[in-house]
Amino acid sequence: MIKGTNITRVYKKGSVETHALRGVDIEIKKGEFVAIVGKSGAGKSTLLYQLSLLDTPTTGTIHIDNTDIATLSIKERTNFRLNYLGYVFQDYALLPELTAEESVLLPLMMQGYTTEDARKRADEVLTRLELSHRTTWRPSQLSGGEQQRVSVARAIAHTPLILFADEPTANLDSVTSKQLLEYLEELNQAGQTIVMVTHELEYAQHAHRIIEMSDGSIIKETRHKK
Ligand SMILES: Nc1ncnc2c1ncn2[C@@H]1O[C@H](COP(=O)(O)OP(=O)(O)O)[C@@H](O)[C@H]1O
Ligand SMILES: [Mg+2]
Repeated sequence: MIKGTNITRVYKKGSVETHALRGVDIEIKKGEFVAIVGKSGAGKSTLLYQLSLLDTPTTGTIHIDNTDIATLSIKERTNFRLNYLGYVFQDYALLPELTAEESVLLPLMMQGYTTEDARKRADEVLTRLELSHRTTWRPSQLSGGEQQRVSVARAIAHTPLILFADEPTANLDSVTSKQLLEYLEELNQAGQTIVMVTHELEYAQHAHRIIEMSDGSIIKETRHKK
């Protein structure tokens, strides 16, 4: 489903170069739940940004479903992200003025859903994440765990090929984090491909495969029997 070959990413600031990725090869198969772990600064987020088309590698290639991403125009790339990928960030990234339902509904409407279909689908995913009693609430009225579930609902409503999550539990307490991981695991069991960055080894245990990074390289891969 995604294949990255020899990916490098060099950040340049004035005369300072940071080699955030030093030639990473990675393949993620349909239906997998992959965790990327490693210390702060190891290059986890940078790798996720390359795979999820939020950034462009300095060198190397990325194929998603046999499409070489480098061949897409900027517009095609944006559409690809909107239609086929889903994102969850550690700070939830919800718009403060939108209700839970609106947060999920709006991206669906941007993709051409009718209001009625978007509302139906939004309610379906919000119910799935046990938020049916929160549809009219705004972020400031929701707990951290609920806000993160709204952001997951928003990310999966259009049934993306891949759900990308960068430290989704970083701002949650341990009980709420475990709950969120259980929701992600359920979504994966229902077929959602997930790539999650975490620095908590315990949470990575929910994944099928754990990829450990250090200093811009993959140093270890562990498979779990599931
Ligand atoms: N936008 C940026 N500009 C310059 N350096 C960056 C930028 N983003 C990340 N880095 C550097 O790249 C390295 C990897 O960062 P990152 O991918 O964020 O690591 P992780 O997510 O594993 O903590 C770090 O040394 C970080 O300081
Ligand atoms: Mg990071």
